[in-house]
Amino acid sequence: MEKTLVLIKPDGVARGLTGQILARFEQVGLKLVAMKMVHASHEDVDRHYALTEEWMMAVYSKAKAKYEAEGRPFDYPDHKAYGGEIKRGLVDFLKSAPIVALVLEGEMAVSLVRKLVGATEPASSAPGTIRGDFSHDTYALSNSQNRPLRNLIHASGNLEEANNEIKIWFTDTELYKYEHAFDAVQYDPKWFLPS
Ligand code: CDP
Ligand code: MG
Repeated sequence: MEKTLVLIKPDGVARGLTGQILARFEQVGLKLVAMKMVHASHEDVDRHYALTEEWMMAVYSKAKAKYEAEGRPFDYPDHKAYGGEIKRGLVDFLKSAPIVALVLEGEMAVSLVRKLVGATEPASSAPGTIRGDFSHDTYALSNSQNRPLRNLIHASGNLEEANNEIKIWFTDTELYKYEHAFDAVQYDPKWFLPS
């Protein structure tokens, strides 16, 4: 069964949205296997957001495409300049105040959580998603204010990212095993309601 990492970022915690965000994950039947509040160190956040070529390219092209769709000029010279700036702002933001880290487990947990979280830019996130329902920040506004998007949550992008990220925030003994209703109702092929 997949495990995935979620961080409720400083804006989510400061707005008192921790409970409502957690409820979104609980109500689809994901099992909460670890959770803690932490005021992160520079090193933790720096490891968490690895400045890879792939990440910088993805961040650059997503923002550029949105600017172009809106007919705005995108003035960053290349993915390294843009990605580097985003990463610096993100690290400062994530270590600025307490965050809540959680690990969720379930069938296809990584993509399920991404679906519930929504698109990176809150204004483009569909209604019904966490980012879409609780925020409406834009690339244009956040870039013009030289700050990262206030999009409430981090969620691992794929299984490899999830496995690496879980190790940054939790030790093995902090990942709990216990019986959850879905272990029977969804996952046990022999489970049935008595007639
Ligand atoms: O969080 P997500 O996986 O959706 O996005 P990402 O492309 O991996 O970027 C990580 C984080 O960087 C985002 O959640 C934003 O907080 C921030 N970011 C930003 O502030 N401005 C951008 N143009 C791109 C990313
Ligand atoms: Mg990501």
